[in-house]
Amino acid sequence: MKILVTGGAGFIGGNFCLTMVNEHPEDEYVCLDLLTYAGNLETLASIQDKKNFRFIRGDIRDREFIYRLFEEEQFDAVINFAAETHVDRSIEEPDVFVSTNVMGVQVLLDACRKYQTKRFHQVSTDEVYGDLPLDRPDLLFREDTPLHASSPYSASKASADLLVLAYYRTFGLPVTISRCSNNYGPYQFPEKLIPLMIARATADESLPVYGEGLNVRDWLHVYDHNTAIDLIVRNGREGEVYNIGGHNEKANIDVVKTILRQLGKPESLIHFVKDRPGHDLRYAMDPTKLETELGWKPVYNFDTGMKQTIDWYLENREWWEHIISGDYKNYYARMYKDRQ
Ligand code: NAD
Ligand code: TYD
Repeated sequence: MKILVTGGAGFIGGNFCLTMVNEHPEDEYVCLDLLTYAGNLETLASIQDKKNFRFIRGDIRDREFIYRLFEEEQFDAVINFAAETHVDRSIEEPDVFVSTNVMGVQVLLDACRKYQTKRFHQVSTDEVYGDLPLDRPDLLFREDTPLHASSPYSASKASADLLVLAYYRTFGLPVTISRCSNNYGPYQFPEKLIPLMIARATADESLPVYGEGLNVRDWLHVYDHNTAIDLIVRNGREGEVYNIGGHNEKANIDVVKTILRQLGKPESLIHFVKDRPGHDLRYAMDPTKLETELGWKPVYNFDTGMKQTIDWYLENREWWEHIISGDYKNYYARMYKDRQ
């Protein structure tokens, strides 16, 4: 298969390329990425010379460029990771979220239709379902849970999911969608909870926990997310949505304490700050369909996954120190100044 991986210089798409280029030498992977602030070619350094891998810089919103690429390459499958992904940024600046996460997806869908791509896979999120109450641990998101997005980010992802399913129903485009819970692992940009806290704690800086730190996220190691996507693209049924999650619900404060414990840093670094507007309380996935239909199983639990991740950040400081020494300083000052 010749597979187009969009957003492959980001966190999850980058890990996908690193894993799959090695695990599937018979397949050819073309990685397309705009290299926004979140894209990083250093992530792909270890595979850039592989015969079955190529990187192209480009924008999924650029219809002319995308059509030309599809015409030349005749992809068998497209896996769309490309997106604006940070909820806090979507609250500051929603426009680019609609532009990339909705309009960009429409361009890709049109290209798949025009060039008869055999599979379009949309990488989506549990956040499209909205949130669950903290006091009802029996409730989990299922694939038929109504969409009820809270933030401009999740609303843009929900919009894309609706478009993808409309192209299936109206045009018979062979599509699949996966909706995954929060990911963690190597190469995650340090604006998201876990790498932000690791980077700040190692420098003995205060750790900004929103509200009381009681919001719950369902954590999955990025490797397990990517094995699920690979399975769905190869064996999933067209027109279907698959939830991905590993039953690892944790309150934010407990995640932060886990990081401090493993780094040998004091809890006095924790600093409770003003809450995120519209902050979703709890996410929790029911991945039964993926497990029973496709036989997927995660290999990491939260303890083994967090240990691997923290060790990775300690051993690969140059990867994230490049990031936090640049524009990121302005980002942090801007985003957190009113939270104190
Ligand atoms: P990320 O922000 O690390 O990476 C996104 C990548 O997309 C970057 O490399 C960026 O340069 C690229 N990109 C942005 N706009 C583009 C455009 N217009 N054209 C081409 N490339 C563009 O995000 P991530 O955490 O790796 O998330 C990847 C996908 O997985 C997203 O669709 C996200 O919604 C979804 N997802 C993420 C999580 C999570 O916890 N991070 C969980 C579930 C689903
Ligand atoms: P994040 O990594 O931004 O993912 P998402 O909002 O998509 O779930 O945040 C995870 C949780 O951590 C979320 O409840 C918000 C919280 N959080 C903090 O408490 N402090 C922070 O500095 C950040 C970035 C997040």
